[in-house]
Amino acid sequence: MKICNTVEEMRAARRTARSGSECFGLVPTMGALHEGHLSLVRAARKECGLVAVSIFINPIQFGPGEDLAKYPRNFDRDRELLEREGVDFIFAPSVDEMYPAGAVTYVTVEGISEKLCGRSRPGHFRGVTTVVAKLLNIVEPNLAFFGQKDAAQAVIIRRMVRDLNIPVQIVTCPVVREQDGLAMSSRNAYLDLEQRKSALALYRSLIEVQKRFIQGERKVASLIEAGQRALAEEPSVRLDYLEIVDPETLDQLDDVSHRALAAVAAFVGDTRLIDNIMLNAA
Ligand code: PAJ
Repeated sequence: MKICNTVEEMRAARRTARSGSECFGLVPTMGALHEGHLSLVRAARKECGLVAVSIFINPIQFGPGEDLAKYPRNFDRDRELLEREGVDFIFAPSVDEMYPAGAVTYVTVEGISEKLCGRSRPGHFRGVTTVVAKLLNIVEPNLAFFGQKDAAQAVIIRRMVRDLNIPVQIVTCPVVREQDGLAMSSRNAYLDLEQRKSALALYRSLIEVQKRFIQGERKVASLIEAGQRALAEEPSVRLDYLEIVDPETLDQLDDVSHRALAAVAAFVGDTRLIDNIMLNAA
């Protein structure tokens, strides 16, 4: 496994790989890897002859007062995990390497970037699309893998790739959960034992929405109310949003006809967690 710390090293590695005809896969991450990340790596391993994983805590997708400074970092552990998964390249640039002095160009997917997490985290998705566009330009993968855990992120990245004609296929992989249902997240490491239990309220609220949906409820207002009630049973959890939206446009719906995305964000202590579930009319 080769570790590339500069754009030039990564490009050189990619150039060498290009002489073969193997499919090249990229899994962008911010490190502190868990089974959710590794599921993307395994999907990439299955589809592609060569796999690169980027590890870069992207400062421009964190807002002021967010957790950039304390975001978990453990490169040695991440490297071991990726070695075991048979990854070919790690791209782990410094902040200066990715954003040299004078970098003033951003990529914004207008409209959708202000929805869901974009509303409570202004500028967040602009930071994500800018860094992902850069990673795609540097690595030039054939396939890039993202998790449905960050459903809005995946939708926005697909739109960026389409709008900018970036020659890559985006693959979205299912949410990986702990045994009790909590969606895996690097931020779960912030939770103490009590908060870890409370955090399950996010998933419970989505399951409640899904249950009502399966029972035949199609009015979004009623579905959301049921979900909010389930979440309120855990008073230490502070709701940011619970929304039921069109899975492509992220527009809020009044009624669910075929498919809808139920997405939740909530604070457990200072930790902001997100989760989602797809509602599918049979
Ligand atoms: P990060 O939070 O490290 O996540 C990296 C990738 O792993 C994302 O595509 C995310 O959706 C996926 N992922 C995280 N938890 C998951 C889970 N429980 N199940 C399935 N997939 C999961 O998302 C980012 O980093 C950044 O915004 C990034 C795209 C790297 C840009 O900086």
